[in-house]
Amino acid sequence: MISANEIRQKYLKFFESRGHKIIPSAPLIPENDPTTLFTSSGMQPLVLNLLGQPHPSGTRLVNSQKCIRTQDIEEVGDNRHTTFFEMLGNWSLGDYFKEEQLAWFYEFLTSEVSLSKDRLYVSVFEGDVSVPRDDESAGIWKKLGISENKIFHYGVKKNWWSRSGVPDLMPAGEPGGPDSEVFYEFTEVPHDPKFGSECHPNCECGRFLEIGNSVFMQYQKQADGSLKELPQKNVDFGGGLERLTAAAYNDPDIFKTDFFISAKKVLEDEIIDDSRGLRIILDHIRAAMFLIDSGVAPSNKDKGYVLRRLIRRAAAHAKIANCDLENGIVTLLTSAFVNEYSNTYPTLLKNKKDIIDEIENELTKFNKTLEAGIKLLGNAPSFDLYQSYGFPREVIEDLYEKRNIEFDENEFEAELKEHQDLSRTASKGMFKGGLQDRSEITTKYHTATHLLHAALRQVLGDHVHQAGSNITAERLRFDFSHPDKLTNQQIIQVEELINQKIAEDIPVTKVEMQKKQALAEGALAFFPEKYPDIANVYSIGGFSKELCGGPHVNSTAEIGSIKIFKEESLGSGTRRIYARIV
Ligand code: ALA
Repeated sequence: MISANEIRQKYLKFFESRGHKIIPSAPLIPENDPTTLFTSSGMQPLVLNLLGQPHPSGTRLVNSQKCIRTQDIEEVGDNRHTTFFEMLGNWSLGDYFKEEQLAWFYEFLTSEVSLSKDRLYVSVFEGDVSVPRDDESAGIWKKLGISENKIFHYGVKKNWWSRSGVPDLMPAGEPGGPDSEVFYEFTEVPHDPKFGSECHPNCECGRFLEIGNSVFMQYQKQADGSLKELPQKNVDFGGGLERLTAAAYNDPDIFKTDFFISAKKVLEDEIIDDSRGLRIILDHIRAAMFLIDSGVAPSNKDKGYVLRRLIRRAAAHAKIANCDLENGIVTLLTSAFVNEYSNTYPTLLKNKKDIIDEIENELTKFNKTLEAGIKLLGNAPSFDLYQSYGFPREVIEDLYEKRNIEFDENEFEAELKEHQDLSRTASKGMFKGGLQDRSEITTKYHTATHLLHAALRQVLGDHVHQAGSNITAERLRFDFSHPDKLTNQQIIQVEELINQKIAEDIPVTKVEMQKKQALAEGALAFFPEKYPDIANVYSIGGFSKELCGGPHVNSTAEIGSIKIFKEESLGSGTRRIYARIV
């Protein structure tokens, strides 16, 4: 039987022989993009190229991308959701379009993976007020041999793709487009009427599995809310490697694919086969391994918090099944995954020991918290255990049940909803400008970032460009292109120049102008494509001029004084500076 590794290899070769360059998987932690925590699709590192910036490898690209989707964390446990997955992807950057894409993917599925064409269903966009119905794709599918009764039309919720979902949710500047998905039918799985009277490809009952999505990325959201055609028509294809493998095996359980086989053996005597708990442990430990390999450490915020939750959730599910992940089990599990993946991702082998140590440390911490948390049972709101102690919901219920204490489901649900609403608002804020809030202190840091950018260019040269930025109430962090480590002398020069501009108390002025004109006048912009055609330009005298969403101080003396306290390499010609207001 074909293995998952073979499917990956065949896919890359198939598209390579059709003029595509194989590009490496981008890191799991996005480079130069403070707006998202993790790489969650193959297109994410290519956004600028989809918007028109030439890619050094040309207009036809293919790869297998490591991805993490944390919004699926609560769904893990069924037979098809995982937090970590590999996405096979191919792209046309203004090159081929629907005709070639659909025909090639169909050929790949039927000839290379040998899927039976009788099992394949497709969906296309049914159209809405601003984008027409995709009859062209439906026509292509028909020509390829998909019968009319296997071609389904859906609206924006199902057949529109952008990083932020349906058109209404897309921020100005974001690319997106209608898409066409392919589904595999597991005819042995009966339809479950709980999900509706009729089964269909997007039914959630488990009979159908989506195995690939061709996005026709040809629109960009405008500041006035409309969608405008991009100058180039792109294809952005993504297909989950494990899902494709599950279809190749004609078994809907992706935890039966080769990636999990040896890790599953480790738990064979510990946990019931095919149980929810088993799948959660397998998925979470694998995701934790990849995150630690990418440089993340467990902590209380952002990426570190996600990692902590993954490890603790895995440990908690093990405990429910009376299995202790310590005592060697984590070592065996991690080793099994490292063996499975190290040919494709060699850093895993090098980092194996650190990965195991990090997970074990977190397990020890969790055990201590667990003891403290158990004392709280019945004395503190159940939601505190979830939010502050990182206990998964199932564990809280299980503890409650074992101790005969009543679990107030309504109270828990209400708190959970409030918490989710808050984090959604926070991530929207993050998406907008990488700024966490608009408080006085972050406003000061924001203006200080412009001064730093300009000062770096003056001291090091015009090759310096912003590659990322992140501000908290305690410090600013700024990433920029520069090939060498900064000397102490250069750091002092940059710092002095910023403080001199602060001392000069220069007014910060804002004008609205045509983006094109602003760029032609030398205004700097991080991701120029993200800004609307008419944008705000902030100037600090003749020293700094940037396209920006604000907010800023009125005059530089409001900032105080700046101290650079760390400078480091991010690899590949990018440096990172940390500075604080003193
Ligand atoms: N970018 C598309 C997706 O993630 C292919 O589904």
